[in-house]
Amino acid sequence: MDKTTLANLRNNYTLNELLENNVSKNPIIQFSVWFKDAINAELVEANAMVLSTIKDSKPSARVVLLKGFDENGFVFFTNYTSHKGQELSGNNAACLTFFWDKLERQVRLEGLMEKVSSEDSDAYFWSRPRESQIGAWVSDQSTVIKGREILDEKLAFYQQKFENEVVIPRPQHWGGYVLKPQTMEFWQGRPNRLHDRLLYTHENDNWKIERLSP
Ligand SMILES: Cc1cc2nc3c(=O)[nH]c(=O)nc-3n(C[C@H](O)[C@H](O)[C@H](O)COP(=O)(O)O)c2cc1C
Repeated sequence: MDKTTLANLRNNYTLNELLENNVSKNPIIQFSVWFKDAINAELVEANAMVLSTIKDSKPSARVVLLKGFDENGFVFFTNYTSHKGQELSGNNAACLTFFWDKLERQVRLEGLMEKVSSEDSDAYFWSRPRESQIGAWVSDQSTVIKGREILDEKLAFYQQKFENEVVIPRPQHWGGYVLKPQTMEFWQGRPNRLHDRLLYTHENDNWKIERLSP
């Protein structure tokens, strides 16, 4: 694509507004309102979010799926020995970013990540399709493998291993993380690049709300 075409790719955001007197004082409630809007808008992956982590001052990011949220935080599931898992065990400061294009909205969360309880990991693991449960055994996530056939061989091995098991055990290296947000920023696109940004900061058991310049 030539430079001019790329430079001219831009939208003017006019769908909505985000005003102090229209938002909840609690960002988790505000998130649930926006999340419902995202579901109703039938976005392809409304629960997809970019997870950013750090290791030795070097950032990295990838998309994961939100699988639950409430006052205790925002949950996703993964392999604890993956790159992200290793990064989080060294430094549990993390950031989650949602982008809901059809709604011209972004939400950013920053906070500390903890593992969820093994009961919660079990419950989610067993709610997944059997094939996905086996997949968690097959994938040594983030390690280098020689080729696709390694996955096929391991899949065949675990399919046979669990053939007669009604309940597939959850691998110890697989489970959930929960991010307890210290800040949450809601961004609503507005005309002429003068977007609305409201930042919630958790202070003394209360949420402070401030408007940021776009
Ligand atoms: C839409 C989408 C959803 C994803 N959801 C997850 C997820 O919930 N958990 C996960 O471990 N990886 C998920 N992935 C894969 C990750 O982006 C990433 O490739 C993988 O977790 C390895 O990351 P790491 O090497 O940084 O640990 C998803 C990818 C996409 C594109």
